Amino acid sequence: MGIILRGGTIVTGTDCYQADIRIEGELVAAVGSQLAQTGDTVLAAEGYYIFPGGIDAHTHFDLPVGRLSTADDFTSGTRAAVLGGTTTVIDYATQGKGETLQQGLANWQRRAGGNCYTDYGFHMAITDWNEQVSRELPWLSREAGVASVKLYMAYKHSLQVDDSVLFQVLEQSRDCGILTCVHCENGDIVDNLTRQLRRQGKTAPSFHPLSRPPRVEQEAVNRLMVLAEMADAPVYVVHLSCREALATVAEAKARGVRVFAETCPQYLVLDDSVYQDPTFACAKFVMSPPLRARENQAGLWNGLRTGILDTVATDHCSFNFRGQKDRGREDFSKIPNGIPGVEHRLGLLYTYGVKEGKLSLTQFVDKVATKPARLFGLYPHKGTIAPGSHADLVIWDEKRRLIIGAAAHAHNVDYSPYEGMVQQGQAIHVFLRGRQVVKDGVAAAKPEGRYLFRKRFVPGGL
Ligand code: URP
Ligand code: ZN
Ligand code: ZN
Repeated sequence: MGIILRGGTIVTGTDCYQADIRIEGELVAAVGSQLAQTGDTVLAAEGYYIFPGGIDAHTHFDLPVGRLSTADDFTSGTRAAVLGGTTTVIDYATQGKGETLQQGLANWQRRAGGNCYTDYGFHMAITDWNEQVSRELPWLSREAGVASVKLYMAYKHSLQVDDSVLFQVLEQSRDCGILTCVHCENGDIVDNLTRQLRRQGKTAPSFHPLSRPPRVEQEAVNRLMVLAEMADAPVYVVHLSCREALATVAEAKARGVRVFAETCPQYLVLDDSVYQDPTFACAKFVMSPPLRARENQAGLWNGLRTGILDTVATDHCSFNFRGQKDRGREDFSKIPNGIPGVEHRLGLLYTYGVKEGKLSLTQFVDKVATKPARLFGLYPHKGTIAPGSHADLVIWDEKRRLIIGAAAHAHNVDYSPYEGMVQQGQAIHVFLRGRQVVKDGVAAAKPEGRYLFRKRFVPGGL
């Protein structure tokens, strides 16, 4: 007995056409016409789009930061994700100081296991590199199914690694089929600028962006491009936010550096005018990199269209305004960094990208599902709609309209950076490996997500 999704407009990373989909068990069995058999359940999808389930390749759920933990854990975070049409998340498991990668990963497996409404995988953030850790890389990609690591060029005195570590990780990851993801900001300069601002008594959150201007991001991206070229290693720039960094990636791509880049909805639809608020309220927008001047946005949209930017992920890292962000009332550098967004990634990109003519439907699907699947070892099970692929399917009603806000969102956090913004179009039904996990906009009662053992990164295999 199967499920038939009848007559929807199927959108993949390359095509857009009307057809029926037959689901058998966890998989798409067929795409075509007259697929129904006796006993099948038929769901009328005429008038709706059907997208492959979204893949958010950048989340931080249940992340400890100092004495705090993110407001969203895997339960609330993945529930919000699935309601927004994202059926897979790749979260950043983080090695604690003194830990092995195996211990760090086990901590995140424990946090996520049994709690996810989406399927999930991990990138491994390396924060304490040494000989022993270097010997774990082959294990990570071959036996743990973690085909990507992350390094931070920022957050001095906590997560930041130096160039020597960066270079060693690039070379060794390359040989293990691991893609190195990098947070690109020059942490030493951020530290200097922050101390200068503090000395001048400029401690309000409105000064946060002055501590991390675009050149700080561009310098780090440029350094990474040079090191990746020297190491002949593939790299993935996370949360690219400004046109200077974009130009640097474009130049590197043009000269053959194997660089991939991600941007986030916040850099596409919000801007730095929020920091003109002299009150503490703008702590809600303290994230790194910070929001940029509106002029950057045209470049980012263009980068998505032309392929300089490969993916859109959220960097969902939520802290409540009350009780968490306000730890930094006296000093913006103590405000925990990050914003929520996992629920609204597809909605924001559809509304402000597709509906405004900045992205085609196939480009939209490529950025939110297909390319992340290809880069992170999940394709073709995930990221497309084809016989044999996982039946991760989003039935999207483009006529629905909602106003984003904390009162209505599923995130477990007391504000939304997108408060009051319109979302046009909404996921009404969502399937995860053939199970209906969202029905008429309501999430299933229990989490059914599974750990994804990802394939190694193969250069040229995209
Ligand atoms: O401000 C941000 N982006 N917080 C999350 C951690 C990171 O840097 O990705
Ligand atoms: Zn980051
Ligand atoms: Zn992040």
